[in-house]
Amino acid sequence: MNKAKVYIKSFGCQMNKLDSNLVANAFLEAGFESAESATEADAVLVNTCSVRKHAEERVFSLLGHMKHLKQSRPATVVAVFGCMAQRLSSELKAHEAVNIVCGPGQIPKLVDMVRDAMDKHHISVAVAEDIRSRVTDENARALDDFEFTYDSANNNSASQAYVRIMRGCNNFCSYCIVPYVRGPEVSRRPGAVVEQIKKLADTGVKHVILLGQTVNSYRYETSAGSVGLAELLEMVSEIDGIEWISFVTGHPKDFDEKIFRAMASLPKVCPYLHMPAQSGSDRILKAMNRGYSCAEYLELVHKAKEIVPSIAVAGDFIVGFPGETDADFAATVELVKRAEYKNCFIFKYSPRPGTRSEGKMADDVSAEVKKQRNIELLAVQEQISRRMNESFAGQRVRVLVEGLSKKAHLNRAENNDCPQLIARAATDHIVVFNGPAELAGQFAEVKITKTSALTLFGQL
Ligand code: 5AD
Ligand code: SF4
Repeated sequence: MNKAKVYIKSFGCQMNKLDSNLVANAFLEAGFESAESATEADAVLVNTCSVRKHAEERVFSLLGHMKHLKQSRPATVVAVFGCMAQRLSSELKAHEAVNIVCGPGQIPKLVDMVRDAMDKHHISVAVAEDIRSRVTDENARALDDFEFTYDSANNNSASQAYVRIMRGCNNFCSYCIVPYVRGPEVSRRPGAVVEQIKKLADTGVKHVILLGQTVNSYRYETSAGSVGLAELLEMVSEIDGIEWISFVTGHPKDFDEKIFRAMASLPKVCPYLHMPAQSGSDRILKAMNRGYSCAEYLELVHKAKEIVPSIAVAGDFIVGFPGETDADFAATVELVKRAEYKNCFIFKYSPRPGTRSEGKMADDVSAEVKKQRNIELLAVQEQISRRMNESFAGQRVRVLVEGLSKKAHLNRAENNDCPQLIARAATDHIVVFNGPAELAGQFAEVKITKTSALTLFGQL
């Protein structure tokens, strides 16, 4: 008998990428085969994101295609999982194309749900009834087991793997949907994290990226004492085979200096800090419920740079938050200039139903102004990135090779027929150079010969 084929489409952040990978492995283990496209799949699984409206619109557009597809292949099972499944369960359940709706905390049930839908053609929903209620021990254990069993080395790129150390968020930034779809903060047991990373190291993983919404609030009470992120970094540092450890994303509120000290003293911990500021205006930061001022944020960045001199800092910003004036935006521009980020991710404010900013504040910055501010802030950051990257010229940098660059074929003539490879430095800088394809997943030393705002170019 032919194996049933499954196709997974994933939207959103690294958490989702990791979940999709776990789900894919669970289906393979259960006897499914992966399909090249939705059109040849028996089950189409869509992992969804709710962080901005645009992300949700893309999912609805995909579901529109699925509706068409099901006209010629009515037996195709369509499952929607992830954040949108939690947020819009009733609406999705009523969608013509959808058979299964499964929240992010219920993914261990997905295989059974899909099998059931294939046999009985019924519609099923599994989401948390009350997303902010304490996660039951049983549910936490099921998620942990799922994570441990189906994690695999290739969940990001060759030799690099994401490892979740915590779930959920308790911060309630006024614009953010995450606490309402991913539930309260729960830190995973350090022993479980270490076991999992040992397993990954045994299969060739060299770089682990520890994931959490606010990774610096990681805390787990054990009989031997309290384990925070700094202690966890120490524990992971002791695992043979792991050479690089990074963590994302940090929240500036309550950042413990101990973490910077751990970064400075543990050679395996990468000097990279992703620490979103969101705005440079104190008034807006307050309305966002971020819990720090612009001056406190800058002080933190300077402290990080003082304790870990090679550190590269990345930031996130939201432009066009309700009530953001030209003066507020100017303060953001000023912060970007002073923080000297390696790079920034910039987003236009998108009101999310049920969040505090959506309920209490009018989305009063026009789409045009949001766009203008986005372009302006990107241009400011680009200049800074370009200038900072110039200091790499002539330096030798150790990189972990991810694989062939997307433009690999274009550069074949440049270096004895070697393709162009894409790699990352410990500071998260993208490094491109020509070299043998077999270097994928290996460390290499590259001399930087040319730089741009986004990329360092080098020679092996
Ligand atoms: N609108 C725009 N951007 C948002 N982010 C989170 N919520 C929203 C929203 N409602 C951004 C923040 C966060 C990143 C992951 O997404 O900058 O750090
Ligand atoms: Fe959202 Fe704020 Fe939690 Fe980040 S810290 S996930 S922005 S609520």
